[in-house]
Amino acid sequence: MDDLVSLCKRRGFIFQSNEIYGGVQGLYDYGPLGVELKNNLKQSWWVSMVYARDDIEGLDASILTHPEVLQYSGHQETFSDPMIDCKSCKLRWRADDLTDKKCPACGSTDLTDPRPFNLMFKTSLGPVDDGTGLAYLRPETAQQIFTNFKNIIDSTSRSLPFGIAQIGKAFRNEITPRNFLFRVREFEQMEMEFFVKPGTDEEWLNKWVNERIDWWIKQGIPENKIIKQEVPKKDLAHYSKATIDLMYEFPHGVEELEGIANRTDFDLGSHSKNQEEFNISAKVNKNIASNAKLAIQDIETKEWIVPYVIEPSAGVDRGVLAILNEAYKLEKLEDGKERIVLTFQPHLAPIKAAVIPLKKNNESLVDVAIGLKNKLQALGLGRVVVENTGNIGKSYRKHDEVGTPLCMTIDFDSLEKGTVTIRDRDTMKQEIQSIDKVADYFKEYFKK
Ligand code: GAP
Repeated sequence: MDDLVSLCKRRGFIFQSNEIYGGVQGLYDYGPLGVELKNNLKQSWWVSMVYARDDIEGLDASILTHPEVLQYSGHQETFSDPMIDCKSCKLRWRADDLTDKKCPACGSTDLTDPRPFNLMFKTSLGPVDDGTGLAYLRPETAQQIFTNFKNIIDSTSRSLPFGIAQIGKAFRNEITPRNFLFRVREFEQMEMEFFVKPGTDEEWLNKWVNERIDWWIKQGIPENKIIKQEVPKKDLAHYSKATIDLMYEFPHGVEELEGIANRTDFDLGSHSKNQEEFNISAKVNKNIASNAKLAIQDIETKEWIVPYVIEPSAGVDRGVLAILNEAYKLEKLEDGKERIVLTFQPHLAPIKAAVIPLKKNNESLVDVAIGLKNKLQALGLGRVVVENTGNIGKSYRKHDEVGTPLCMTIDFDSLEKGTVTIRDRDTMKQEIQSIDKVADYFKEYFKK
């Protein structure tokens, strides 16, 4: 992990947040290449959910959340982790970190019993901070999907089964943020709530588990490193009837990358008015605040039902960490030297191609390079850069380290014969292409 963290900083993927003031634990900033990688991952999820299928709509809802949303969702009461305080050094720990009943910092065994600690961040809306403007930073993106359920069926005329997808920030006041991007306080989720007829929920849960594994494989995570794990009944979240976690071998151990939960009719049932009109199966609190019925008419039976929900919920940051971990390779070369290379899937690579003029100060070479860059950039397949260092070897090394699939050198043959040398990141093989054909070559490469 240390080598990966250091590469991320050195090459501009990920920085400790607020670093110049000493940093804040559990917060990270994505640098110039990190933001490209993260956007590419989110785009791949969005395309697979919203564009490639015809049964899912998108949403981008607010982060600041009305307290009643989180009251009826059950988060105010139950969204907590059991914590233990060390009475000697006064540090606080997650109970599951203290398996040997000793404080990890000072070794003391003088500890409190586990106590629940709510993970939600509060803030205040409006000019007066007297508690009347209480709002929360959402702890999951899902809740605003449920509160927008009626808006979305009214505006799209959807019928069951269908889903609503959202990507966005979530916030949790993790007491022991750790393992780089794995457990942080501000992170992004890619969540999709799939609304189904009660009775078809188990079948849909299995379908979505398989869909999600296939998607992670396409992002470069080997199938044998994704472990399906059914969450034991005693550990299920308050809303879940069954959850399958996709566990991944992170550098620090096997942990959750994504969870796929059967949330039943708990959430829509909890947020609905006139709950007694519906046959809600989950145990929900009586809602006296909502002004919407969160139900849909069954097109066959004409009965109004509160759908069940299957929710694949993936962490963007954990995804980025897993993808970086898989891509990172230290390779021994034939000449005895070593290279670091990030073997990203082409669609995830932060830079798709680097165009390198052989000589830095040669105007003709630089002009051709800029022209080619602009042509490739206009194809809209991702970022293309001109690498104007005048040092081909150094440029190759740099672009291997940041995972750029193609390097294109503009040399004197480019001026005389109209050719370009294209070097492949993974094989390091070079081939000569006519400059007129490079755009087709590039399109074909990223279609793979
Ligand atoms: N809506 C369901 C939900 O939020 P979760 O298991 O608490 O379920 C879903 O979170 C995903 O969000 C996790 O699988 C993980 O990838 C990511 N996640 C949760 N807490 C996180 C944290 N503190 N830091 C980074 N990612 C986190």
